[in-house]
This record gives sequence, C-alpha cells and structure tokens, in this order.
Amino acid sequence: MKYSKITGTGSYLPEKILTNADLEKIVDTTSEWIVSRTGIEERRIAGDNEFTCDLAEAAARNAISAANINAKDIDLIIVATTTPDRIFPSTACLLQERLGIHGCAAFDVQAVCTGFVYGMGIAEKFIRTGSAKRALIVGAETLSRIIDWRDRSTCVLFGDGAGAVILEASDSEGIISSHLHADGKYKELLTVPVGVSSGHEKLKQTEAYIQMQGNEVFRVAVNTLGRIVDETLAANNMKKSDITWLVPHQANIRIINATAKKLGISTDHVVVTVNKHGNTSAASIPLAFDEAVRDGRIKRGDTVMMEAFGGGFTWGSVLLKY
Ligand code: COA
Repeated sequence: MKYSKITGTGSYLPEKILTNADLEKIVDTTSEWIVSRTGIEERRIAGDNEFTCDLAEAAARNAISAANINAKDIDLIIVATTTPDRIFPSTACLLQERLGIHGCAAFDVQAVCTGFVYGMGIAEKFIRTGSAKRALIVGAETLSRIIDWRDRSTCVLFGDGAGAVILEASDSEGIISSHLHADGKYKELLTVPVGVSSGHEKLKQTEAYIQMQGNEVFRVAVNTLGRIVDETLAANNMKKSDITWLVPHQANIRIINATAKKLGISTDHVVVTVNKHGNTSAASIPLAFDEAVRDGRIKRGDTVMMEAFGGGFTWGSVLLKY
C-alpha cells in the first residue's frame, strides 16, 4: 500500500478559559491591543494537576474512537511537544502505556510549533516504506508552564491543548507530500534559553520562559510560509486553486491572512481557531483540523494544505487528500 490516509481525528482542550479581560488584570495590556495585533480573544490553561500527557491521552482516545480501531492495532506513536511531562521517558512512551500498547516504536518530536507537521512527515515515511501500518500522531502542549506571566509581549499569545490523528496505510490517495525545513541561525529569536545540559539549575527562574523578538519572528514567518506554499504546489504540479482548505499553524491572524492571500484562497476556506485557542504550538494544527472535520467543513476528497512555522526556526507543510 502506497498511501497513508487520515482515518480519525481528535482533540482536547483544558476547561479553564483565560480571556483577554483576565489578562488586562495581570499585565499592562488591553483586549483591543491583543485582538487587533493577534486575533486572539481567549486561550485555555491546563489545571494545576493536568499535564501534557493527560491532554495527549484525551485527544488520542478521541482519534482512536473516530477511526473505529483498537488502540492495540497502533504500531507507531509520535508525540510532537515542547512541553513534555518528564525529561525522560518521552511523552510518547507515557502515552503508549496509558493506551495499553506494548512494543511499537514511540518517540517525541521536538520541532516546536512545526512539531505536528514534522510528525506527519515522519509517520508518512514509516508507512510508505512498510515500517508501520497504523500511526498515532499527537500534538500536545502545556505552554502555560513556560510563560513569563509578567511579560505582556508573550503571555497574551499562548495556550494549552492537544490534537491527534490516526494515519493508516491505504490504497487510495492520502498524504500527497510533506516538506520539512529548519534553520538554526534564528535560534535566539524565539527560545527558552535553558535546558537539561545547559542551565538546568535555572529551570525555575526567569530564563526558563519563552523569550521572543516578536516583530522579527513575524517578518520571517510571513516570508517563509509564503515560500513553503509555492514549494508545496510546485513539487506536485498543482495550482493554488487545487487547494480546498488551508489549515495553518495558529499563531497570529495576520500571519494566517498573509499566507491565505499568498495562496489566493478565500478566508472561508481557511480554518481559524487562534481566536479561541491562542498559539498552542504543536497542538494548533491537529486541533484546528479536528474542529473542521467534526463540524463538517472538511469533507472526504477535499485537498488540504497544513503549514507551520516555529522556534528553531522550523517550518514545513503537509499536502493531503482527506
Ligand atoms: N499589550 C499592549 N502593548 C504591547 C503588548 C501587549 N500585550 N505587547 C507588546 N506591546 C507593545 C510593545 O511594548 C511596543 O511598545 P513600544 O512601541 O512602546 O515599544 C508596541 O506594543 C509594539 O510592539 P511590537 O512588538 O512592534 O508589536 P507588533 O505589531 O509586532 O505585535 C506581536 C507584536 C508579538 C503580536 C507580533 O510581533 C507577532 O505576532 N509576532 C509573531 C509572534 C509569533 O507568531 N510567534 C510564534 C511563532 S510560532
């Protein structure tokens, strides 16, 4: 079987909603500023005892049920996350145990906001080469844990959530192509500048939070996403008008609109959730995709382009026939 097809989608959002009005009480900002610069109205925040693997598990169970499969038939688990529960084992291994699966490959992918696109690209290659038949790919984040809640230039942007898909080997067309890129020269523009090997002792201090040069990130993101749209279409000899739906990474409505314009696609064929979820990093595309599948906007046979950009910088796209 040559193709890999999405057979089920799922998502999960924590209950707690943090509105712009709530943020006005925490930092010097206004809802009007946040909405006009980013399109974000509210975001979800994980409960004190809720961790990335909890969100991942709920989304994964929804996707497994939508695909109408038994969890034990999954033979590859990839979790895209920047906010794993533990340094190790990987969140994918923790999730594997929760789902009662034993023995299949399970690993995390760290490509920040492009993580889910990377996960799809990797899983598709496992399936195409016959190394897997039924993959679970999850994007899950508790970014609220690495936010400096005193920094108005970042704390208004991010949120928590999870999304998942089941990708199965198929005789009919599914993923058409995936395109993955990175350029580490931009490492300082969007970063949490401490980790395990370096600065571990600072993990509970100011340096352990997201730091971002927002307008530089914005500029590179818009240019890069414009290029990935062209690259994806050219690789498949396709025209802009062949795309039915754009499911972009949800970071900022102005970045989304710039990419939609580049693709010449009308805004009612762009899935937008950034207003309700903020930027949930690796979770943002599967969350948006699941919403549009479940409410009937994305239908079987539609051609969908997913694209993302994130810290690294990393960027990429997945083109698929749903
Ligand atoms: N409320 C009010 N004012 C704020 C603010 C907030 N929450 N955050 C920043 N400001 C202020 C700044 O301090 C600055 O004030 P100054 O001119 O007095 O110095 C002013 O607003 C303009 O800041 P600037 O950073 O130039 O605004 P911007 O139009 O670039 O918008 C972002 C800021 C962060 C919304 C925008 O740059 C962006 O979305 N960047 C990309 C971020 C992103 O997507 N990151 C993830 C990629 S995966």
